[in-house]
Amino acid sequence: MKIVAVCSLLMAILVGCGAKGDSYDNIMSKKTLVVGVSADYPPFEFHKTINGKDEIVGFDIDLANEIAKDLGVEMKIEDMKFESLIGALNSDKLDMVISGMDPDPERAKAVDFSDPYYVAEAGVIVRAADKDKYKTPEDLKGKKIGVQKGSTFEKVVTQIPEAQPELLSKVSDLVLALESNRIEAVIVEKPVAKAYASNRPELEMSDAVLQPASDGYVIGFRKGSPKMVEAANKTIARLKSEGKLDEFITKATQMAEEQ
Ligand code: ARG
Repeated sequence: MKIVAVCSLLMAILVGCGAKGDSYDNIMSKKTLVVGVSADYPPFEFHKTINGKDEIVGFDIDLANEIAKDLGVEMKIEDMKFESLIGALNSDKLDMVISGMDPDPERAKAVDFSDPYYVAEAGVIVRAADKDKYKTPEDLKGKKIGVQKGSTFEKVVTQIPEAQPELLSKVSDLVLALESNRIEAVIVEKPVAKAYASNRPELEMSDAVLQPASDGYVIGFRKGSPKMVEAANKTIARLKSEGKLDEFITKATQMAEEQ
């Protein structure tokens, strides 16, 4: 009896896992693409009030829209903490993660990646009053540096000697901590640093140069989804050849700066 019970349990688990398959098939059968973002990252994904309504907009959203359009399905956006995105993908709450995400070996174990679609360098936000004081990574030696939890900047921050990382889930909270003198700098990517600085006179992008985390942002899909990866890569290639990605980034940057 026991053996039978254990075997059927094992079978259930195995079938449960096997049944997942390529997420392409799942998306096509429910005719919806559920997209996970951490909407704290202008110009890539951010909240904006449009005609009195709170909307999530940005470069990544435009790209996700095109992928949904090419598949012929509806798109639904889920806003969550950056560090929760990959877990939500693996527990089937999401079909794809697009969030200014760099590929790294650890993430590669958990998700399938698209081709890179945008190359961003690291950028450091400081208080405008400190711009001349904090010009290089050495100038920030031993300081409290804000970094988004679960981001590749947890590693990048070690380029600052003896940095004391302050980890928070939302970039907007890191920016508040910087404004209230609780930390000395926030590491994000350059377009994001510029977007925050352009909306807040008390903040500036520092001249400090840090090595980027990767050769470009990628989209994440559930592991074992080669068909879905191929479909997304086709859309990315089409948009690149049509010059649309450049158009999207210009438009998103403008929207982010006129917040
Ligand atoms: N590029 C960094 C990473 O991959 C940070 C991305 C943060 N994205 C966001 N939407 N807050 O970890």
